[in-house]
Amino acid sequence: MSLFLFKVLALFLLNTSSNASPTQSRRHCRFGDTCWPDESTWQAFNHSISGRLVRTYPAAAVCHGQTYDAAECEVAKAEWDNSFWRTNQTGAYTAMVWELGNGQCFINSSRNDACQPGLVPHYSVNATSVADIQAAVRFASDKDLYLVVKNTGHDHLGRSTGRGAFSIWTHNLKGRKWMKNFVAKGVPEQAKGVAAVTLQPGEQWLDVYRAASQERVIVVGGAARTVGAAGGWLTGGGHSPFANAYGLGVDNLLEATLVNAKGEHLTVNQYTDRDYFYAIRGGGGSSWGVLTSVTYRTHPEPSHIQVAFVQVNATSNSSLRPVLERSLGALVNMTDSGYTGYGYLSGAGFTSLFIKPNGTDAQLVKAAAAFYEIGQLPEAAFAMLNFTFPRWIDYCNMFLQDPNIAQNVMDSSRLLTPDMAFNKADKIIDMMLELSEENYPFFNFIGKVNPAERNKTSVHPVWHNSRAVMSFGTNWNDTASDAEKRRKRQLLVDISKRWGNITGPSGGTYANEANP
Ligand SMILES: Cc1cc2nc3c(=O)[nH]c(=O)nc-3n(C[C@H](O)[C@H](O)[C@H](O)COP(=O)(O)OP(=O)(O)OC[C@H]3O[C@@H](n4cnc5c(N)ncnc54)[C@H](O)[C@@H]3O)c2cc1C
Ligand SMILES: *[C@@H]1O[C@H](CO)[C@@H](O)[C@H](O)[C@H]1NC(C)=O
Ligand SMILES: *[C@@H]1O[C@H](CO)[C@@H](O)[C@H](O)[C@H]1NC(C)=O
Ligand SMILES: *[C@@H]1O[C@H](CO)[C@@H](O)[C@H](O)[C@H]1NC(C)=O
Ligand SMILES: *[C@@H]1O[C@H](CO)[C@@H](O)[C@H](O)[C@H]1NC(C)=O
Ligand SMILES: *[C@@H]1O[C@H](CO)[C@@H](O)[C@H](O)[C@H]1NC(C)=O
Ligand SMILES: *[C@@H]1O[C@H](CO)[C@@H](O)[C@H](O)[C@H]1NC(C)=O
Ligand SMILES: *[C@@H]1O[C@H](CO)[C@@H](O)[C@H](O)[C@H]1NC(C)=O
Ligand SMILES: *[C@@H]1O[C@H](CO)[C@@H](O)[C@H](O)[C@H]1NC(C)=O
Ligand SMILES: *[C@@H]1O[C@H](CO)[C@@H](O)[C@H](O)[C@H]1NC(C)=O
Ligand SMILES: *[C@@H]1O[C@H](CO)[C@@H](O)[C@H](O)[C@H]1NC(C)=O
Ligand SMILES: *[C@@H]1O[C@H](CO)[C@@H](O)[C@H](O)[C@H]1NC(C)=O
Ligand SMILES: *[C@@H]1O[C@H](CO)[C@@H](O)[C@H](O)[C@H]1NC(C)=O
Repeated sequence: MSLFLFKVLALFLLNTSSNASPTQSRRHCRFGDTCWPDESTWQAFNHSISGRLVRTYPAAAVCHGQTYDAAECEVAKAEWDNSFWRTNQTGAYTAMVWELGNGQCFINSSRNDACQPGLVPHYSVNATSVADIQAAVRFASDKDLYLVVKNTGHDHLGRSTGRGAFSIWTHNLKGRKWMKNFVAKGVPEQAKGVAAVTLQPGEQWLDVYRAASQERVIVVGGAARTVGAAGGWLTGGGHSPFANAYGLGVDNLLEATLVNAKGEHLTVNQYTDRDYFYAIRGGGGSSWGVLTSVTYRTHPEPSHIQVAFVQVNATSNSSLRPVLERSLGALVNMTDSGYTGYGYLSGAGFTSLFIKPNGTDAQLVKAAAAFYEIGQLPEAAFAMLNFTFPRWIDYCNMFLQDPNIAQNVMDSSRLLTPDMAFNKADKIIDMMLELSEENYPFFNFIGKVNPAERNKTSVHPVWHNSRAVMSFGTNWNDTASDAEKRRKRQLLVDISKRWGNITGPSGGTYANEANP
């Protein structure tokens, strides 16, 4: 993914410098460029935003050089892979590759070892108001700065980071407003209000779920604790354990407020500006402005949450291929019955957790029949456990996690359609078995997504019929050699090309969890 992205960036830079005429040339200044504003300009800007400008460093900078701080270094070491701590840091990112790039600023190296800025923005605005964001956008526009928006830093594509960039950090903008009768701006007069919640851009899913449980409602959100509830998760689509019933995050968006590239603060919904609203519902990252609030439809709490743990194993090498291939089809059957889930394939077989709000035992028997059939194959084994949580928050307290924090995980994915699962499973499993075990595929999401709103959103149309986000990943240690990093990145590019051959031109992926 990164190789590809760097190529795109390089092309972009080449284009802007070689093709642009002098009148239209627009150079996005980074720290170190001659066009970067001088210190007094920065301090004047800092003063204009009440001193909210923060010099930004990688998370381990407190353990090195002039930024060393003994107490903070101890905290950083202890909390290194704690997602709550990590998302609290201005310059920390979930995937270390997007924090350090090919540079180094390691948490466990000695105090005198190098701490390079990597890909971390040079300055950030610690925004606490819409006015801070407007001032930052106008300043960036005025000075032609390379601007990024950072919320949690969870992005798989590095879109919230940027070497030498100027960043708007939305994390500290917290707030939730629950409403029984929300009426969007510009709605025809006779329209009835709907139950909804307005979230400030720094809100994170576990906090929203806790508050929603007190309100006795459901918000369609991610299966993660610290992912942003009102940033990149939303603008990329936003899949959820409730997607079968209620669609993606974008499908539940009623209205957003945002700061556009001119620094104007706008309210956007399908009545104020249908095209703009379409664009932010899937257009990705910060492409369409800086969100300053989002309003989601809320839903009644289910009467209970049914959870099933499904495992089908091959007990011999010769049964491995049929077990793996047929599991792809069986997960389509499972989603036909409204189950969503999270799972993986391995050298043993298929393993997944499935969730169904209000699910019954009879529904589970029917839904899992295809897995049960695989278990009846020679040299295969099937196991299923099920349990029921009274409420969604009980599930969250037991199972909700933030995996892969402070790793160098990258993934190459495609949305798995029934056609791929039933008719192209052999090709997908060929690819799996030619890779090494550490690259074996996983499913960041399994489910059939309610398509009612699909045509009003700009997510890839393959979401209309897809049943899973299927990813091949890689990972490396921070101290891996450049050669190893290059090889692993190239592997993902190759996998992505191969995916393209399998899916054909109608294939697509979930932009938030993808190596393009
Ligand atoms: C542990 C983990 C679990 C995940 N679970 C899920 C899941 O269950 N469902 C799912 O769909 N995805 C999931 N994802 C993927 C997630 O959707 C993406 O990582 C997404 O980019 C996170 O958005 P963020 O705002 O939290 O992160 P950031 O990295 O801060 O931002 C991501 C992108 O959004 C932009 N952005 C952020 N805030 C704003 C804003 N206010 N206005 C405009 N642009 C903004 C940034 O510029 C960047 O382009 C998960 C990721 C991780 C790391
Ligand atoms: C911005 O101003 C505040 C308050 O004066 C100061 O604490 C902070 O260090 C300044 N930021 C930078 C990057 O200089
Ligand atoms: C993150 O910041 C919040 C708000 O300042 C604080 O309550 C919380 O304890 C911090 N979490 C961690 C793990 O540092
Ligand atoms: C740092 O070293 C400690 C102690 O050896 C170890 O427990 C920890 O996992 C290391 N952290 C990283 C990020 O390598
Ligand atoms: C950002 O602002 C919040 C709210 O004022 C404050 O608590 C926090 O310490 C600030 N963080 C940084 C890094 O300046
Ligand atoms: C589950 O059942 C409850 C109570 O009957 C109902 O209010 C809710 O809409 C149902 N939810 C789903 C997702 O089916
Ligand atoms: C599969 O083959 C490998 C060696 O090729 C062997 O180590 C392993 O035990 C076999 N697995 C099973 C389940 O037979
Ligand atoms: C679900 O679990 C219960 C209790 O363990 C068990 O009686 C029931 O048969 C299970 N249902 C299915 C479909 O496996
Ligand atoms: C699984 O789905 C396929 C395609 O719809 C169907 O042909 C098959 O009968 C289903 N299997 C089971 C066990 O229901
Ligand atoms: C499947 O294989 C795994 C790993 O070898 C094992 O832990 C698990 O118990 C097996 N499950 C079944 C149903 O056989
Ligand atoms: C969405 O558009 C597709 C193709 O244009 C069409 O087949 C489908 O019926 C539309 N769906 C809805 C819900 O409007
Ligand atoms: C990281 O290093 C450890 C210890 O050398 C090794 O066991 C592990 O496999 C490495 N991880 C990756 C992803 O390369
Ligand atoms: C894709 O298919 C073409 C045509 O069959 C083939 O030449 C090419 O090598 C394939 N690429 C990959 C990455 O599989």
